[in-house]
Amino acid sequence: MPGTCVVGLQWGDEAKGKIVDLLTRPGHIVVRYQGGANAGHTVVVQGQTYKLSLVPSGILRPGVECVITGGVVVDPGILLQEIRELQTRGVEVQGRLRVSDRAHVIFPWHVEEDRIFGQRASEEGEAIGTTLRGIGPCYRDKVGRYFAVRMGDLLRPGVEERILRIAEEKNRALQARDPSFQPLDGQAIAQQYRQWAEQLRPFVSDTTEFLLSALEQGRQVLFEGAQGSLLDVDHGTFPFVTSSNSSALGVCAGAGVPGKFITQIIGVAKAYTTRVGGGPFPTEQNNPIGEHLRERGREYGTVTRRPRRCGWFDAVAVRYAARVSGVDVLALTLLDVLSGLPEVKICTGYRIGGELTNSFPSHAEDLARAEPVYETLPGWQQPIDHIRQVEHLPREARAYVDRIGELIERPVEVISVGPDRSQTMFLHASQKQSA
Ligand code: IMP
Repeated sequence: MPGTCVVGLQWGDEAKGKIVDLLTRPGHIVVRYQGGANAGHTVVVQGQTYKLSLVPSGILRPGVECVITGGVVVDPGILLQEIRELQTRGVEVQGRLRVSDRAHVIFPWHVEEDRIFGQRASEEGEAIGTTLRGIGPCYRDKVGRYFAVRMGDLLRPGVEERILRIAEEKNRALQARDPSFQPLDGQAIAQQYRQWAEQLRPFVSDTTEFLLSALEQGRQVLFEGAQGSLLDVDHGTFPFVTSSNSSALGVCAGAGVPGKFITQIIGVAKAYTTRVGGGPFPTEQNNPIGEHLRERGREYGTVTRRPRRCGWFDAVAVRYAARVSGVDVLALTLLDVLSGLPEVKICTGYRIGGELTNSFPSHAEDLARAEPVYETLPGWQQPIDHIRQVEHLPREARAYVDRIGELIERPVEVISVGPDRSQTMFLHASQKQSA
């Protein structure tokens, strides 16, 4: 009972934040276990829109505690800005947000590295198209260890000297890579980070200990995935991925919680597919269908404002993601966006080099060669964003949802038809009661 994970089954932006928000009750703990400020969660509460990138969306529910664990990479400036904005809007944060002392810190050189390496990659071929938040470079320094600083280190004496030393090394390396690079002011960075650390001190603690005790006592913990399973560094469409384990596999290492505590995994998928940045996307529609999805779905990045690439639902990719993430039930979001299309398509297989397959290739080049095989279903014309009961959905929309459940081999338990909390349908009594 204690641990539930909500994870994206596509390339991110599946509206996980809304699902987490709906499942959260007073007394629960909501946990971010990977990623950083590359994520953007939009939650609409009573007509007010909140955009969060580091603070878990559970903060918007009174009586809920939130945790940013050691698996997350933290940009202290962005975190403080988010905390202040929430406080300005009357949300209580102090005493409800914990940040791990094990979380690695993002510095300005990480952002510069993201930019400079990304530029080079796009000159040489297809770029990953990162969010430029320094996520990949910070994770690289974490694994490399020599240039890593954790939140706990920032609060200890002597950290300024360490930051200065790292800044010198980074300046040298970045100038060698890009002669136009303007060296960063290590002294100013050290001072700024020490100041931020002091402001964050009341929030920083050993969150592994806190979570283990909470789970051992039987408290309900919700693990909120950022990005989506197909962006997982090990199991996604490498190298067009993020630098963390963004599938449900990341929960244990990221949060410091053994798998036995994770008792339910909810996979969130859009009723179609989107992707931001580079990488293969077999069902992409560079045509009026794609434009319909982008405009109706307001498919522009929360963090970067980039227009998202849009296409049909890919059941091969989502089924793979659901298996890797160990998903029990599905939440299907943005179903309302499909209203008005004459027909809707689901990709049920790939043709790769003349061979038909329904397994998801492990190499991005094979996925790039995949031609989608579609099943076509009738569309529905009427808007559905006002519908609150599944029985009231148009027959065609029901058939579409049912087919997705069949193809993914998991029951669809939640359908979302708009950003507001109220625009949600629960298909089974168990979810209805707990929501
Ligand atoms: P990074 O996470 O900034 O390194 O970016 C790596 C890839 O993941 C790029 O294709 C990004 O567009 C994508 N990405 C990162 N975070 C998100 C997200 O929250 N939603 C969708 N795509 C994301």
